[in-house]
Amino acid sequence: MIKEFIEKIPKAELHIHLEGSIEPEMLLTLAERNKLRLKYNTIDEVKGAYKFKDLRDFLYIYTQGTRVLKKAEDFYDITKAYLSKVYSQNVLHAEIFIDFQTYSKRGIASEMIMDGVVSAIKGAKSDLGISTYLILAFLRHLGAKEAMKTLQEGLKYKDKIIGVGLASTELGFPPELFEEVFEEARKAGFKTTAHAGEEGPAEYVRNSIDILKVDRVDHGNRAMDDPELVKDIVKKQIPLTLCPLSNIALGNVKSLESHTLKKKLDMGMLVSVNSDDPAYFGGYVNENLIAVQKALALDAIDIVKLAKNSFVSSFLPKEKKEYFLDLINAAEL
Ligand code: ADE
Ligand code: ZN
Repeated sequence: MIKEFIEKIPKAELHIHLEGSIEPEMLLTLAERNKLRLKYNTIDEVKGAYKFKDLRDFLYIYTQGTRVLKKAEDFYDITKAYLSKVYSQNVLHAEIFIDFQTYSKRGIASEMIMDGVVSAIKGAKSDLGISTYLILAFLRHLGAKEAMKTLQEGLKYKDKIIGVGLASTELGFPPELFEEVFEEARKAGFKTTAHAGEEGPAEYVRNSIDILKVDRVDHGNRAMDDPELVKDIVKKQIPLTLCPLSNIALGNVKSLESHTLKKKLDMGMLVSVNSDDPAYFGGYVNENLIAVQKALALDAIDIVKLAKNSFVSSFLPKEKKEYFLDLINAAEL
């Protein structure tokens, strides 16, 4: 059974926003613990509100959800819950986006966030063996100056954060606005990634690669509109972290059947499957893989390729990548 094959195969998740993993039950628990009034009282009411017109509409609800996070233990609990969940899906390595900007406005210091998140990561490493990296996201709608400040804050945790990324509303906030920030980040030794071509045009993908010089692109769907860009992405083997269920939930792709994932795979693009915001979009990595397998008739060879790509596209050092690739080769599936 291909479903069991998908569930069992060792894999990495490279595109997940920590706040996007707060399940409705956790949201209600944290709201109660922090004495916060929400618009919802039941899990069904929360779920009922998770219908989005587009990315902007989603980001509004998602940001509302982050209000339940107030203390280090809240960040600890959501990180632990995410890592435990994905470990049960045979995710052996995760690269998680964290955000400081949403919280600094509310007087929540980065120290508190990192305190909770890092202790959950350490616990998951020792209890489960799962490895985790953190990527600090810049919220592009807040502009380059704020991103630069956030980078300076991130430098305090240089030993705990592997890289930086560009997230939030894409349209109207092109990558070139952040050229200087990314140059500084690269000089400081951070890996880099940027959301591009999720809702924005192929040009945003092109400029993320050429101007921001990113190591990888998040989504990158719209790169397909520019054949020269596609050739370049294949030649340079720039990883694209695809998030199929997210694309459907946000209306960026009409149907899973029309998703270009299989086309990209067949063209030799280094694509992986990720969840983006699993609590909001209907599933974690395995649910994403199972859905695209069905819609695009992926076979076991495709699944193995996607699982291998997830490690190859990671920010892990070469020897760790080889270790995980050997695990896939040796796995009895
Ligand atoms: N932040 C959380 N989810 C996101 C998405 N899908 N695109 C951009 N920024 C995000
Ligand atoms: Zn994302």
